[in-house]
Amino acid sequence: MAPSIPDIAQTPQGHEGGAPAPLHVAIIMDGNGRWATQRGWPRLAGHRKGAEQIKKVVQAAPDLGIRYMTIYAFSTENWKRSTQEVLGLMKMFRLMIKREAAELSRQGVELRFIGDRTPLDPLLRETMDAIETRTKGNSKLTLAVAINYGGRDELKRAAQSIARDVAEGKITADEVDEAMISSRLDSAGMPDPDLVIRSSGETRTSNFLPWQAAYSEYEFTPTLWPDFTPDELSDILDRFAGRERRFGGVAS
Ligand code: IPE
Ligand code: IPE
Ligand code: MG
Repeated sequence: MAPSIPDIAQTPQGHEGGAPAPLHVAIIMDGNGRWATQRGWPRLAGHRKGAEQIKKVVQAAPDLGIRYMTIYAFSTENWKRSTQEVLGLMKMFRLMIKREAAELSRQGVELRFIGDRTPLDPLLRETMDAIETRTKGNSKLTLAVAINYGGRDELKRAAQSIARDVAEGKITADEVDEAMISSRLDSAGMPDPDLVIRSSGETRTSNFLPWQAAYSEYEFTPTLWPDFTPDELSDILDRFAGRERRFGGVAS
């Protein structure tokens, strides 16, 4: 008997025909420090300019057909930086979220955060919780901001949560499947990214979405993040549209 064909036509979300998949673009916003250093400015000046670019890119995203966007703002490894830079970034995150809350809401953006927020400053966490509540259900664009995010850390926390349920007898080990793991990640409920973009010329993923991006397309651009524009995003999307995604199948 032929082995039954697993139901993987529905692999990465929504690509099984019918309505076009909602486009999820994830961005590793790298190069702020070099952008500032090239100008003889402190690194934080680069982060501030980088934050301005995020606003432009987010504003342009829905018109480019993007429904979900995930941006890497601070990794679990970024604590290795100077206290001044780390504190400066944390302060900037809080101010940005507070300042942009009304505008994001007006634009129909749902803001959420991925990453472990437990070690973050309580004031920052409050601001994060508040904007998540305020923008919940907005449907023009879902923007996930990765703060204190590490893919391995996220998988570790998901494994712990599943292990606890197994230990308590709520589920059996055999019931653990890929969908359950996805549903325990911080990104639960979002489709996997179709495209991951990294700026600044580095060609590595630096612990970003290792599970979710298993079948993503990648684009690496030499542009430093503070110089990245919606026009460049549009060009990248044009190139992406010409790619053939096979998901393990054969060319059509
Ligand atoms: C990315 O820019 C932003 C964060 C990691 C917070 P960098 O700060 O890593 O910039 P470079 O790589 O040093 O130029
Ligand atoms: C990745 O950039 C993290 C963010 C963009 C927030 P890094 O600059 O921290 O990555 P590495 O150290 O070059 O791999
Ligand atoms: Mg960097």
